Amino acid sequence: MDMARSPRLKTHMDQRAAHFTASVSFDWRLLPFDVEGSIAHVTMLAEQGVIAHDAAETIISGLKQVLEEWQTARLSPRLEWEDVHMNVEGRLNELIGPVSGMLHTARSRNDQVALDMHLYMLDVGSGLKAALHDMIASLVERARNDLDVIIPGYTHMQPAQPVLLSHHWMAYKSMFVRDYERLEQWHERTNCSPLGAGALSGTPYPTSPERTRELLALKSVYDNSIDAVSDRDFLMEFLSWASLVMVHMSRLAEELVIWSTQEFGYIRIADEYSTGSSIMPQKRNADVAELTRGKTGRVLGRMQGLFTTMKGLPLAYDSDMQEDKEAVFDVVDTMTGILAVVPGMLRTLSVQRGQIKKRLGQDFTAATDLADLLVTHGMTFREAHHLVGRIVGFLEGSGKSFQEMERDWLKEIAPAVDPEWLNHLTAADLVIKRQQSMATAPHRVQEQLEAAETWLNRHNDATKDESQS
Ligand code: ARG
Repeated sequence: MDMARSPRLKTHMDQRAAHFTASVSFDWRLLPFDVEGSIAHVTMLAEQGVIAHDAAETIISGLKQVLEEWQTARLSPRLEWEDVHMNVEGRLNELIGPVSGMLHTARSRNDQVALDMHLYMLDVGSGLKAALHDMIASLVERARNDLDVIIPGYTHMQPAQPVLLSHHWMAYKSMFVRDYERLEQWHERTNCSPLGAGALSGTPYPTSPERTRELLALKSVYDNSIDAVSDRDFLMEFLSWASLVMVHMSRLAEELVIWSTQEFGYIRIADEYSTGSSIMPQKRNADVAELTRGKTGRVLGRMQGLFTTMKGLPLAYDSDMQEDKEAVFDVVDTMTGILAVVPGMLRTLSVQRGQIKKRLGQDFTAATDLADLLVTHGMTFREAHHLVGRIVGFLEGSGKSFQEMERDWLKEIAPAVDPEWLNHLTAADLVIKRQQSMATAPHRVQEQLEAAETWLNRHNDATKDESQS
């Protein structure tokens, strides 16, 4: 029996058209969720007296067998059955015979596929949350480890003012914490059951969407059946979330690429996370970081793709919506892959303290503070800014640092500057003076670090509880 094909359609489908419309080559991964949803549906149908209890039992044990065959890779997708939903029913029919025909009572593939996607997304969402927790932990560990290192902080990618390297790592921590919280909020909204909507209007059977919600341990039921089958917001929201995470990942990856160049030399990426060149024997390429940066384009593209697919669709279900799957699955796989390697790369990289120190001695990141000193001695900031700019210009010409400046010469061009000040303009002096709770003074960074560690512990328990339930 060709289940997807009603007798209204007289001829067989054109082979190429069948191939074109089928989704089973990519929706196969939904099978466990499809079975889970079907078991809840059939259980509810029997409780409500829509089908007989013994029929429900036969169907449920058949569904469990289909799942078992899938888990042990003994089941192959069949194109003639179009999608994963029809494949489950088709195989069920082979296993238990005509009683399988009761499974689809009071249900449409429209509410079925929507439910499958919700269940799948909630499942992968939990995995991504744990992976993101590990990403945050790796940044916090780096920050703890590198507390003794001061780097030139940059604006416009020019040395600006010194900051603690830990402070820099923890800026990324803050971005990923926001991503984590956004994922939690998305999880709340996605935790909603569309089952019961049928094709779009509900069904004439006395079903209980509330009961299937309860059986599936979901938090709520859609309040509008038309919305329930046509809503893909939770997928677009997921892709937006993923895009933002990837923008953060990509900025971090870009810095790791730059910092690991010979020209910067601030870090060395561990051998385990570096690749060589097939022609240049000396090469150590930051491939993991580069590909992380590169895959950002793909995730942003998938987001753009699904938004564009959805933007002109009339209510309720349209086949265009089948396009959601490849977009979302690709992004889930891409994010999972990235979150599996980036924390390890961060944990194993080594910070080249000597090289960083050398660079700090050569730049003029103390210039703002020298101007600030002049201000405390009565100059306006504008005058001070101008004067220090001139000093830096002279020093650059002679290849000297503030500390190496000849005192006679200083007296001549900037009598307002007390030469003694120059001894207190080291990077360590400068960071200590920035005392706002968010700023780079070591004791402040220490506090920020402790707060981050507390956050991690608190959310670690939450992540663990969730994977146990
Ligand atoms: N394969 C379809 C999808 O992924 C399932 C829903 C099909 N519904 C329908 N009325 N053709 O969206």
